[in-house]
Parts: sequence; C-alpha cells; structure tokens
Amino acid sequence: MKIVVVGGGSTYTPELIDGFARLRETLPLSEIVLVDPDRERRELLAGVAQRMLLRQGHPALVTSTDDVGAASEGAVAVLLQLRVGGQDTRRRDETWPLDCDCIGQETTGAGGLAKALRTVPVVLDIAERVRAVNPDAWLIDFTNPVGIVSRALLSHGHKAIGLCNVAIGLQRFFAELVGVGPERIALDHVGLNHLTWERGVRLLDPVTIGGTTPVGSGTNILPRLLESHAERIATRLHQPVQLLQRIQAVPSYYLRYFYEHDTVVREQRKGPSRAEEVAAMESELLRMYADPATDTKPDLLSKRGGEFYSEAAVNLVASLLSDRGDTQVVNTLNNGTLPFLPDDFVIETPAIIDSTGAHPVRTSAVEPRFAGLIAHVAAYEQLALDAAIHGGRDRVADALLAHPLVGQWDIANTLTDRLIAENSAFLSWA
Ligand code: G6P
Ligand code: MN
Repeated sequence: MKIVVVGGGSTYTPELIDGFARLRETLPLSEIVLVDPDRERRELLAGVAQRMLLRQGHPALVTSTDDVGAASEGAVAVLLQLRVGGQDTRRRDETWPLDCDCIGQETTGAGGLAKALRTVPVVLDIAERVRAVNPDAWLIDFTNPVGIVSRALLSHGHKAIGLCNVAIGLQRFFAELVGVGPERIALDHVGLNHLTWERGVRLLDPVTIGGTTPVGSGTNILPRLLESHAERIATRLHQPVQLLQRIQAVPSYYLRYFYEHDTVVREQRKGPSRAEEVAAMESELLRMYADPATDTKPDLLSKRGGEFYSEAAVNLVASLLSDRGDTQVVNTLNNGTLPFLPDDFVIETPAIIDSTGAHPVRTSAVEPRFAGLIAHVAAYEQLALDAAIHGGRDRVADALLAHPLVGQWDIANTLTDRLIAENSAFLSWA
C-alpha cells in the first residue's frame, strides 16, 4: 500500500512517519513517497524517515521526487501538508496586519486570507495532476487554511477530505483528564476549521467501543469537567475560566483571536512572531535530521502545534479504505448538517467515515452565540475562495470587509493593498 506526502520536505514529516510506524497494523504501508520541489529537503527528510522506519522494523520503502503525478500512480491517498513560500511568508502574514490593529495569524483574519490566496491555486493544480493519473486516490488536506482549501478541492469535484488536529488533541486531553483511553471520549464538535466549539464531551461505555458506537451515545461529562477541571481546561486553551463556564462549551484556542482580539494584538506586538520561533526550531530540526545517527522523532518536534496529526491521518485513511464506519472529526460538505449554511459550504464536524467518504453526524440546533459567528466566517470563506480562484483587488477587499475581525471600509482597503504588496510574488494576477 502506497501513500504520498506532498510537502514531504517539511520538518513535520517525522511526526507522520512516527505515526505510520506505530500504527502499522491499522495502515499497512509498503511505500511512502515524499513530494517536494526542494530537492535537498526532500532527500534529507526521506533519509531520516527511512532510518526511523528501519529502526522500528517497518518494511516500507521511502522515496522522494518533485513529480506529484508520477508519485501518485497506484497510491491509496495523497496527503497535502505544503506551505507556499515557507516560514518567511508566514512571518509576513503574522506581522503586517498588526499595523492596522488587526491580529497577525496564518489562518485567521487578513493573514489567513493571504495564505488562502497563495495556496488555493497551487493545491488545485496538484489535485488535477493527481486526478489525471489516479482518480481513485483520496486527497487528505492538512494544508491551511483547511476550511477554504478543502472547499476549493470539493467544489472542483475532487475526492477530498480536510483534516485538522484540534479535535483529536482535545479528545486526547479530555481522556487524560478523566483517566480513560481516547476511544472512550467522543466530542460534540461544531463549527468551521479553526472556529470550533466542543458543546459536549461524551464518555462512552466500554462495550460500545469498536467503531459502531451509536451517534449521541454516552454521558455528557462536559458540565462536570467545567466545574472540576475548569482551570486546567482554560489554561490549555489560553482563555478565561469564566468564559468557558458562561458559554458551557470549550472553544478551540483559535477562538482567542475573536474573544480576546485586542489583548492578542498587544501581545503580538511584543513579538517574536510564531513564524520566527518555528524557523529557529526548523533550523535545529534540520540539523538533527542531517545527522545519520538520528533515527527517532526528536523531542523538539513536540513543541510544534501538529501533535496527533499522524494519528488523525492514519485513522482517516484506514477508515476510508476499510469501510470501518467509525466517527471522526473532519472537514467536509455541510449537506444540511448546519441548516443555516448552504449545503456546499465546508464545515468541521464529526462524520461517519466509510469507503464512500465522510458523512456528517446530525447535531442539535446550534445556539445563536455560536451560529452567528459560524455563519459570518463561512460567508467570508466563500468570498475568500472566490478571491483565491478568480483574483482581483476588489474580491480581496470584499472578503476582508466581510470578515468579522476586519469589517471596516478603511481598514479593509488598507489591508487589501498591504496584502497584495506583501504577496505579489505569489499572486499571478497582481
Ligand atoms: C495546529 C493547527 C494547525 C497549525 C498548527 C501550527 O496544529 O491545527 O493547523 O498548522 O497548529 O503549529 P505551529 O507549530 O506551526 O505554530
Ligand atoms: Mn489546524
């Protein structure tokens, strides 16, 4: 069984390889192809990946190439984890919006729009190349902004599912708090990628384990957790205890950019940017990967945000191939799940995963305190995708004017000009 990793030269790749090695029974791989335009990086990463597998007695062969079409022939899945322009473009996304008193972030606000504009055309081109040789392969998108990129892929008819590690990270966190295995915890997760809330945390009965847990089963322990473990939960999410208790839900830490926008802007002004921190870690990681003695995942990698990404990816591909019918949190078409959004919008939701894809689980009516922001950002995402596909200054300004964290005419226009100036090398129309 062959799998392709696009952006395989990323310093994250050992995270994925470690998961492939640990979960080999779930996903018995025989070949892993790392695709990356940077020859030195892809060969370096292929080297350390192969050493990691050998050390764990895993039989898969790791190869590398810049040709995604050739790589995809015969593959069951193609994972997308690329970053157009590397950490330098991320540093820009995280800094220039601050000049307008807006947060600098790589997936939220004006920086997130810049990333979408750079990324969507590249990902669509890759997806076409994959489809030309292998229309059966699943495209698993971890490339940010995942909501917009997944929507781009699905609207072009690709066999795609978007993936983020926020939900699986929280599932593991709650399981640890309660002292049970992660398979005993199910989340009532609602929203859009990087704009989600856990409205319930259900403790499942041991007997219902095995992928066929009836939807909505188990006991909702969230009210109890928000009493007994409020401090720990709030600290992990960097958000006030009282906020969580008030809304009786656990927001992802990306909601901090909304609930505490001005505070975050003040913090970000003090720097350094996350991109600068990550770039420093990356130099150190690359030095380790180049050492022929390195054949395990470095501890330093755990300081990155991608924890449990490999578990999520392995579980998703395994269920798509084996028709397991278990429930996983993914990014897929709304199709009536949230009645206040059109069917062809992409939401992040628990879904039953089988060989035909992801089927969102029905959920109870979404409270206005969540639904309003979800609808607002979903409309922005639609305009952002329009700008990414068709280009043009007006479309960029339209998207920013519609974003709840921008919204003002003057600021939207200033940010638009700045976004285009900072990214002209990546925008074919600018
Ligand atoms: C989480 C998010 C990812 C994001 C990452 C950033 O994992 O779900 O979408 O890419 O954090 O982590 P970093 O270490 O790059 O700041
Ligand atoms: Mn994510």
